[in-house]
Amino acid sequence: MSQNILVTGGAGFIGSHTCVALAAAGYAPVILDNLGNSDVRVLERLERITGARPRFIEGDVRDRALLDKLFREQPIGGVIHFAGLKAVGDSVADPITYYDNNVNGTFVLAAAMQAAAVRTLIFSSSATVYGDPDRSPIPEDAPLRPANPYGRSKLMVEQALADLHRANPAWRIALLRYFNPVGAHESGLIGEHPQGKPNNLMPFVSQVAVGLRDKLAVHGGDYPTPDGTGVRDYVHVMDLAEGHVAALRHAEKQPGLVTLNLGTGQGASVLDVVKAFERASGQRIAYEIGPRRPGDVPAYWGDPTLAQATLGWRASRSVDQMCADSWRWQQANPNGYA
Ligand code: NAD
Ligand code: UFG
Repeated sequence: MSQNILVTGGAGFIGSHTCVALAAAGYAPVILDNLGNSDVRVLERLERITGARPRFIEGDVRDRALLDKLFREQPIGGVIHFAGLKAVGDSVADPITYYDNNVNGTFVLAAAMQAAAVRTLIFSSSATVYGDPDRSPIPEDAPLRPANPYGRSKLMVEQALADLHRANPAWRIALLRYFNPVGAHESGLIGEHPQGKPNNLMPFVSQVAVGLRDKLAVHGGDYPTPDGTGVRDYVHVMDLAEGHVAALRHAEKQPGLVTLNLGTGQGASVLDVVKAFERASGQRIAYEIGPRRPGDVPAYWGDPTLAQATLGWRASRSVDQMCADSWRWQQANPNGYA
């Protein structure tokens, strides 16, 4: 099997970190990205970290002719498919754009792979497919009831890829359900830089620490959790990246389809994260407890035991390390790659 791995969305947050993990494991990432939510300057950073600049194709995963050309021009051993849109609120406001990018995008990619006889696919799904779970830790066979178009787009793709595998068992597919990816590569050279005001907790906290924002609005202090704030399963993006390499190696061994949670199995509250970030940065994080955010679930975390048993992978980095690495990236790059 070729060591060239097509990484769609490879210029983005999780994709760029996965390119580092792929290179460390001896693979050659080939990035396809339309740069809709990323910056081409990430390539220089990847070169500094790994010693090699990944091949980069600027383009859209929905462009079938481009994909056919890409598969013709070089051998590709497998595909890790990150390209997609991920803002829950935008998906509610503009569902068709979300279904087109996330669902149609995957269909175009899978059809091009089928035509090129490349049948190894690692797909970015999300814990959001579980919606508001009955209990935590959430096992993979928990009920699937996503609460918004973004979550439904992920579930639709999961179901379509399962049908594809049933129709042609030669496919090797991993559906990876991420919990809350945060942190940055330990070099501080790559990380997450959301455009505009961050929706997510960790980038917001980092921007408060570095002085870009005054204070964090804590969305709810009256949840039935130990300190009243929301609890999530934060997972270091490099652990997640290594999970993709483990999933790829597993897929290379035998055809099949696996659905796996990638998380730590432990929950941390908003205030746990605030305190950990204060320890990591030495900065005080001003915050104010405000109303709950509509649509938020009080608390959930994943059961990662199936991923451990199947892949021999487990998340090893602590919340303190997630904060220390986010802080290093944020301090060195207050304006992202700009
Ligand atoms: P990101 O926005 O940083 O990365 C996605 C990349 O895909 C971007 O570089 C973007 O430019 C590119 N892209 C988007 N649509 C494209 C298209 N049609 N063609 C080509 N490129 C396209 O997001 P991320 O956090 O790295 O997320 C990667 C994947 O993981 C997404 O599919 C997301 O839904 C999924 N996911 C993310 C999280 C999270 O909290 N970050 C959680 C669960 C799942
Ligand atoms: N939070 C705040 N203030 C903020 C931002 C977040 O208090 O400014 C709280 C939230 O209320 C929640 C926790 O911090 O309790 C985490 O919120 P995030 O927005 O960082 O993450 P979510 O768990 O809401 O959602 C994330 C991704 C989704 C994905 C989901 C499950 O944003 O796309 O994880 O994988 F679907």
